[in-house]
Amino acid sequence: QVAESLHIINGFAQKYFAEQLWQTQEGEAVAQSYLEERGFRREISEKFQLGYSPQNRHSFVTAALQKQYNAELLVKTGLVVNRNEELLDNYRGRIIFPIHNNTGKVIGFGARVIGKAEKVPKYINTPENEIYVKSRILYGAYFARQSIDKQDECLLVEGYTDVISLHQAGIENVVASGGTSLTTDQLRIIKKYTNNLTIIYDGDSAGIKAALRGLDMALEESLNVKLVLIPDKEDPDSYVNKVGANAFREFVAEHKKDFILFQLEIMLKDAGNDVSRKNDVVNQIAETLSKINKTEDFTKQQEYIRQCSGILRIDETGLTTLVNKYK
Ligand code: CTP
Ligand code: MN
Ligand code: MN
Ligand code: MN
Ligand code: MN
Repeated sequence: QVAESLHIINGFAQKYFAEQLWQTQEGEAVAQSYLEERGFRREISEKFQLGYSPQNRHSFVTAALQKQYNAELLVKTGLVVNRNEELLDNYRGRIIFPIHNNTGKVIGFGARVIGKAEKVPKYINTPENEIYVKSRILYGAYFARQSIDKQDECLLVEGYTDVISLHQAGIENVVASGGTSLTTDQLRIIKKYTNNLTIIYDGDSAGIKAALRGLDMALEESLNVKLVLIPDKEDPDSYVNKVGANAFREFVAEHKKDFILFQLEIMLKDAGNDVSRKNDVVNQIAETLSKINKTEDFTKQQEYIRQCSGILRIDETGLTTLVNKYK
């Protein structure tokens, strides 16, 4: 009941914001030009149903109340806020990214400031409600589904704009975690589509850390995980815009690393020649390997034990025993 009403309000809001983007002077001057500058063509902005929320803090709420939508529900969607009994728009002067569920209904929004975020959050996102459950949201999944099936692979990026720019470059099997660290629920949704997950994150330390945090969880869900790190301060959106679609594809193909071996590599590099730290690495990797679902992926686990013990130059049966001690 409430869920249905929230869907209806979100649908109305999506259309409202799209109209503001494409059919008003303010939208043209402020928002269309921003999207153009970023390299989004109109076709792709329309596909993702992007919009614009005007500066005027009464614009959306006035239109919504005219349609007789319930004030309490409007607040629940996060589109409207109640300030001392005055209803105001929550998103003002922002680019609106609708977020769709797997049937294509709008369940929430990300709203980005235009230009640099100074003293305001870059994105404002929908608060948790009956239909917007953050831990289960994979931005772009609705648009990626067919391509994921066809490629039997899902690419995972951080942000809305990464998904959209990759689509524009013809890479459509891509979803975003939305900046939060990956959850088990998100991985289970991916697992329903494919067993093959390729994480494409920023190559900075925050990106690597975020990726590593997801690894053990992904292994527990029996996903085959590969990792691609995007170089120098870039993200997939900026990088594909910089080098072009073909070079981006080549980069991904050439830099796809097996995630477990990647983890081992960076841990070993960190440990250097320190014997006790190398011992920690052995334990860490044993714990990670123990997460590989034994009933489903027994051969896979054995193969990794073989490769890792080779890299570590330790005895294979010793590592097997250690792996079995975890879990
Ligand atoms: N994010 C958020 N709130 C913020 C910053 C980020 O919700 N204040 C989420 C958004 O989903 C965003 C993702 O984290 O898409 C990645 O953040 P970031 O890399 O900072 O943004 P970009 O997606 O690169 O956006 P842009 O290119 O427009 O700067
Ligand atoms: Mn980063
Ligand atoms: Mn970032
Ligand atoms: Mn980014
Ligand atoms: Mn970006």
